[in-house]
Amino acid sequence: MTLDDQIHRLVTAAMARAESARDPEELESVRIEVLGRKGSLAQFSKEFGKLPAEERPGAGKALNAAKETLESALEARKQAFDAAALDARLRTEWLDLTLPAPGPRPGSLHPVTLIQNEIEDLFTSLGFAVLDGPEVETEYHNFDALNIPPEHPARDMQDTFWLTDGNLLRTHTSPVQVRGMEKYGPPLRMIAPGRAFRNEEVDASHEHTFYQLEGMMVDRNVSVAHLIYFMKTLLSAIFRRDVTLRLRPGYFPFVEPGFELDVQCLICGGPGCPVCKQSGWVELLPCGLVHPSVLRMSGIDPDQWGGFAFGLGLTRLAMMRYGIDDIRLLQSGDLRFLSQF
Ligand code: PHE
Repeated sequence: MTLDDQIHRLVTAAMARAESARDPEELESVRIEVLGRKGSLAQFSKEFGKLPAEERPGAGKALNAAKETLESALEARKQAFDAAALDARLRTEWLDLTLPAPGPRPGSLHPVTLIQNEIEDLFTSLGFAVLDGPEVETEYHNFDALNIPPEHPARDMQDTFWLTDGNLLRTHTSPVQVRGMEKYGPPLRMIAPGRAFRNEEVDASHEHTFYQLEGMMVDRNVSVAHLIYFMKTLLSAIFRRDVTLRLRPGYFPFVEPGFELDVQCLICGGPGCPVCKQSGWVELLPCGLVHPSVLRMSGIDPDQWGGFAFGLGLTRLAMMRYGIDDIRLLQSGDLRFLSQF
């Protein structure tokens, strides 16, 4: 057999093996066997020396041609493997771009924010300003200026978080009344929504952090009739129907007279049910006419001016409005809860 024939055989056999290789690894081993440094073609080169000089150029050409043929055949086969692998990957990682996108998940407002916004809208339409006050308050604004001096028993009505510098976390939004009077003087119509803090054991109906909405009006000849009118307007708007109210005496050092305002039970309408604990009435908010000493301490002459004030429990109202039975949910940050609003 001539050298040419031998080369031809080798090429044919190698091509057949490359063609039947099942994977890139098998193909690579064929390549090493044939084209590698110690492969079959390399063996042929060694035979060169034994050839007569005139045959060497021809043999060299044949050898190079064989090498090129094999290289390009192996490369083509390798590319076929790569293409198949890519194809398989694309098939498993396939994305259906015609599917509708899930889209960004829109946020929603917190139930307390929702009800706060509503009440702010109502009161601004009645000429009230929306004021803000600090959550870290002075003892003076939270207590003294509201007619609650240091030894006053009313200080024990609220378990206060005292700070080491003598300031405190406000226990109610009432200090904003004082700040409003100090800053603007009479006449004054203001509301002040915000957080208040009390050192409470937390359970389903108690939180150390909760929301109130303070309201105050100072003007000439303000009477209980004004108070009732604004409260009825407020509560009818909140509950979206006409409500029946009643006032009971209530004690708060900064109002005189002071009241607890009840609304006739919206569930049973009066006869009594579990929600109103069979009484027909639900206690809603404390209020009253601003105590003369409170006006005086903030530089307002109580002989010239009078006022009413109320303190709405926003957290409790949101719970009533939306039927939330555990106060802890409100501060949980739990999206399963929050996304329902
Ligand atoms: N600040 C009182 C409280 O938190 C509520 C209140 C406000 C009472 C205004 C009367 C007038 O308990």
